[in-house]
Amino acid sequence: MFDTDPAALAEQLTAIARSLSLEQQVRLLTGADMWSTHPEPAAGLRAMVLSDGPSGVRGQIWDERDPSLNLPSATALSASWDPELAYRYGQIAAAEAIRKGVDVVLGPTINLHRSPLGGRHFEAYSEDPLLTAEIGAAFVRGVQSAGIAACPKHYIANDFETERFTASVEVSDQALREVYLAPFERTVRDGAWTVMSSYNAVRGVTMSENDLLRSPLCEEWGFDGVVISDWTAVRSLAAAKARQDLAMPGPNGPWGDALVAAVRAGEVPVEAIEEKVRRLLLLAVRVGALGAEPDHRPRPIIDAGFAREAEARGIVLVRNVDGLLPLRAPASVAVSGQNAELPRTQGGGSATVVPSEVVSPLTGLRQALPASIVSYRLGAVVQEGLAELPLDCLTDPETGSAGLRVRFTNLAGEVALDEVRFSSALVWLGNAPTGDLDTCEIITDYRPSATGPVELGFAAVGPTVLSIDGAVVLSAESDVTGHDPATAVLSPPVSTTEVDLEAGRSYRLRLEHSLAGSARLPGTLGITLGSRPAVASADALIAEAAQAAREAEVAVVVVGTNSQVESEGFDRTSLALPGRQDDLVRAVAQANPRTVVVVNSGSPVTMPWRSEVQAVLLTWFGGQEYGRALADVLSGAVEPGGRLPTTWPAEEADVPVLDVTPVDGVLRYDEGIHIGYRAWLRAGAEPAYPFGFGLGYTTFEYESVSVAASPDAAEVSVRLRNTGTRAGREVAQVYLSRPESAHDRPVRWLAGFAGVEVAAGQTATVTIALPRRAFEHWQQDGWALEPGSFTVEAGPNVAELPLRAELPADWQG
Ligand code: BGC
Repeated sequence: MFDTDPAALAEQLTAIARSLSLEQQVRLLTGADMWSTHPEPAAGLRAMVLSDGPSGVRGQIWDERDPSLNLPSATALSASWDPELAYRYGQIAAAEAIRKGVDVVLGPTINLHRSPLGGRHFEAYSEDPLLTAEIGAAFVRGVQSAGIAACPKHYIANDFETERFTASVEVSDQALREVYLAPFERTVRDGAWTVMSSYNAVRGVTMSENDLLRSPLCEEWGFDGVVISDWTAVRSLAAAKARQDLAMPGPNGPWGDALVAAVRAGEVPVEAIEEKVRRLLLLAVRVGALGAEPDHRPRPIIDAGFAREAEARGIVLVRNVDGLLPLRAPASVAVSGQNAELPRTQGGGSATVVPSEVVSPLTGLRQALPASIVSYRLGAVVQEGLAELPLDCLTDPETGSAGLRVRFTNLAGEVALDEVRFSSALVWLGNAPTGDLDTCEIITDYRPSATGPVELGFAAVGPTVLSIDGAVVLSAESDVTGHDPATAVLSPPVSTTEVDLEAGRSYRLRLEHSLAGSARLPGTLGITLGSRPAVASADALIAEAAQAAREAEVAVVVVGTNSQVESEGFDRTSLALPGRQDDLVRAVAQANPRTVVVVNSGSPVTMPWRSEVQAVLLTWFGGQEYGRALADVLSGAVEPGGRLPTTWPAEEADVPVLDVTPVDGVLRYDEGIHIGYRAWLRAGAEPAYPFGFGLGYTTFEYESVSVAASPDAAEVSVRLRNTGTRAGREVAQVYLSRPESAHDRPVRWLAGFAGVEVAAGQTATVTIALPRRAFEHWQQDGWALEPGSFTVEAGPNVAELPLRAELPADWQG
């Protein structure tokens, strides 16, 4: 029905766009609701559904009754340095999208790790533009191979969260081109069907109105798809004149009638509207939403095996003294750390999906080591938010079945919603009742599994009261005025009170949350009823864990960040592990030298104890199969496959580019092209672990390198030998440098890489193509190739490059 020739198709779609009235056209350019576009029956167009991700696909509702596969975080994926894995990750995301009726997956996030304080780095891939581009583009191709659109985001310079709606970034053209735009260029050239414009401004112009949407995105790179705004990022009619196509969410927004009037008044050209509609129709053709039969594709249920495989592939072993790992069937293992029992499998904010099950490290280890005695001590409290109350301790008083009763009442006293839920952490993103609401009530009979004191409470914005068996125990009215509205829903403030509970006894918990006069976006609400451990003595917790470690053959401490450290809407204030975790590690390591530390964070943390322990694994936010993947690596069933996608500093004070706080609304990227390892190299500073670093359970020797140059590119062949006793995977990395240059260049920069599996004792040769762009630099009028020689270095990470070759000065012929 549609022409396959792009020009002919464009004509067809323009004709359809023109057949619609101006009102019909403009209506299509703002969302119909939080997650979907308007249908237009006159054009044969159905609504299209957009959903976060990107580490899984949430669908239109945030609801435990419609769970999603929770894949490992972006940093785990990029740590695989494996575009093929990223492609499969994209395919799995697409399969989840199909199962959930989603047409557009809002990812990948391809902003860069400019400063490790960036709150959302777990969701982005790397500090390096090439690694980000390779992984991001493979994800996009994987998603789109199934007829689902991907949406690289957030265009552009959205590499921090502080004042994210309004901050303006001052950045040079060279840094934009060589660093920040590079992953977008790559994903667009690889065919991304949509791109998301970011909240922030660049050089004073907010991105939904910024000329960077026109050029380079469209005019240079040939982007023919839809620019979707970040949620509420379209603020004016000026965005309609820019290359901004779709304003999300809807149905209200700054366009609508005002845009119709502006077109009629000649302020916005009618052609601009037609083109936006044509591009929306093209997206609809691509995802099968235009003139297509209703979608009867089978809805595959995804198994979690891929989540387990992908996580193991991303785990980075950075220390392994005397080959402590893999563990060799130890008689006893003393596990400690709160994240061992309550891990973070994903970052917070819009990227969150609701998994049906999460495998903790403790469970994973117990399953993998059935013959070992695996003990557990809390050791230190990490959690700052609330953990949901476990479903198997909750009963809906009305039906007597598992769960909680949730009831919305309006000002007229009528019940607007009354249902049983199976999670005590509840989020509505557009699908909560609207109108004149009075209260949201949550009622459940709670039968705790342990006796003793616990911090019980809620996370909510606005007046909220918690009662137990009819007696009020806590009342609070938290306010987030002046803060990011997303955090009000996704990360509301927590209030708790200490109560003494008895195991097995039933307590009637009732939460009454007032909605009258609330200023939140219609249909949105986030409220959690939950708990956190009450700690009488942090020292005692550490001592108990150390004692258990002393009595065991091996100790495993799982440390990590919490939802107040890494999430959307705010940046980090410190790279230190929260709470007393550093003390915990030190005490356990002193009690048992055979200590393994597992770090469960989405981005770098400082590890001042790292030389005091025998092994360290960096495991990111591991997805729902985290515990099993970790156990696979600890037991040696799988080797830790990851290499660092970002530099891990020893101390926060050493980090060359750290600042994420705008001054007078402006954040200056004054370091230019020198971020990540480029900045470390320039500063001559040494991190704890360099970019690209990671050990395996075998060892490799880099034997030789050769370079074949053609006028436009080069091909580097690297021979390496597996010198250990088991098969393993190595990621050979190739860096370029240009000792004598007339231009500002990184000391060296990643130009290509390739992973290879090699059997014990065998050699392998990998060939890595370096396109012309790898050598080019940006100058005023475009990309340029500086004549003369380049140095090619190859090795296992940016700081260890045993092989070197020179491209002769006349390599361009
Ligand atoms: C985030 C986007 C996300 C959107 C929709 C925004 O707050 O920045 O990444 O896709 O919300 O949830």
